[in-house]
Amino acid sequence: MKTLLSGVKPTGRPHIGNYFGAMKQFVDLQNDYNSFVFIADLHALTSPEIQDSKILSQNTKDVLADYLAIGLDPEKTTLYKQSDIPEVTELEWYFNCLITVPYLMRAHAFKDAEAKNKEINVGVFNYPVLMAADILIVNADVVPVGRDQKQHVEITRDIAGKFNNVYGETFKAPTEMILEEVETVPGIDGQKMSKSYGNTIPLFATDDEIRSIVAKIPTDSKAVEEAKDPDTNNIYNIHKILLNPEENTALRHKYSTGGLGYKEAKDLLVADLIKFITPLRDKRDEIIKDEALLLKVLADGKEKVRKVVEAKMAEVRKKVGTQF
Ligand code: TRP
Repeated sequence: MKTLLSGVKPTGRPHIGNYFGAMKQFVDLQNDYNSFVFIADLHALTSPEIQDSKILSQNTKDVLADYLAIGLDPEKTTLYKQSDIPEVTELEWYFNCLITVPYLMRAHAFKDAEAKNKEINVGVFNYPVLMAADILIVNADVVPVGRDQKQHVEITRDIAGKFNNVYGETFKAPTEMILEEVETVPGIDGQKMSKSYGNTIPLFATDDEIRSIVAKIPTDSKAVEEAKDPDTNNIYNIHKILLNPEENTALRHKYSTGGLGYKEAKDLLVADLIKFITPLRDKRDEIIKDEALLLKVLADGKEKVRKVVEAKMAEVRKKVGTQF
């Protein structure tokens, strides 16, 4: 079995766009790969809003509960937190000493931050190097990531090559697996669903939240009896994500034959969102209350990944000369 690794930054509540775009795919892939999924708490610290112990630790538990609730199975996926493996920062240091400042200055994330005139901390600058350490320390073959992270995996390959050139063959080159959104989930305003647009439906929303968010979907002034084109209708475009092919055909028919008013269309969407979200939310509520379970999952994951990390780092340290 090939080894798969991905990291998730603990930064707030996921929405249904995150779920269909990426989270669900980790669950589907865990049967076909030797899977590692970790919580990138050290990477999260590059954001000043997370530089608060309560926020970081709470977000870490939250993201773990999110993934357990959607079906990531600790028996199949090694789940751990990045900071439990201090060797990643040691490996990052070896990498820092091999690559140049101008090379890292070409990274998109750094250039974007610079273009926005942000005060860039060194963590942001070194972000791709830490990510290379995350990936290479477990000998990952494939790295499922969103398109925005593709360059980071390319940088990882460069770093692996550089290390191998200097110290001899040590790391294999990983490949990115771009998580194309199976279907791009539109937000309530019709743009792509994204936290930065404020148009999301949280994955674990309460029934009241679901109702009030759906109520905000803008509609035009078509009368109830008028036929409506489902493809340009935002209520439908969100709704179809939740439907199987037969249900989808039936709903399209309702829109296009007329007689379906926006009030009823929204009620149908609310009902299906509640049906989809309730079991996930109930499971998550149960998990987040069980602190002992969360700690046990992290402790078990740490123990499992440590075996791989210790072997790899013994090899690396010998090659570098910090161990003899
Ligand atoms: N940078 C990734 C993101 O923002 C998170 C991440 C950190 C990651 N380390 C990783 C992803 C290693 C894949 C592999 O989504």
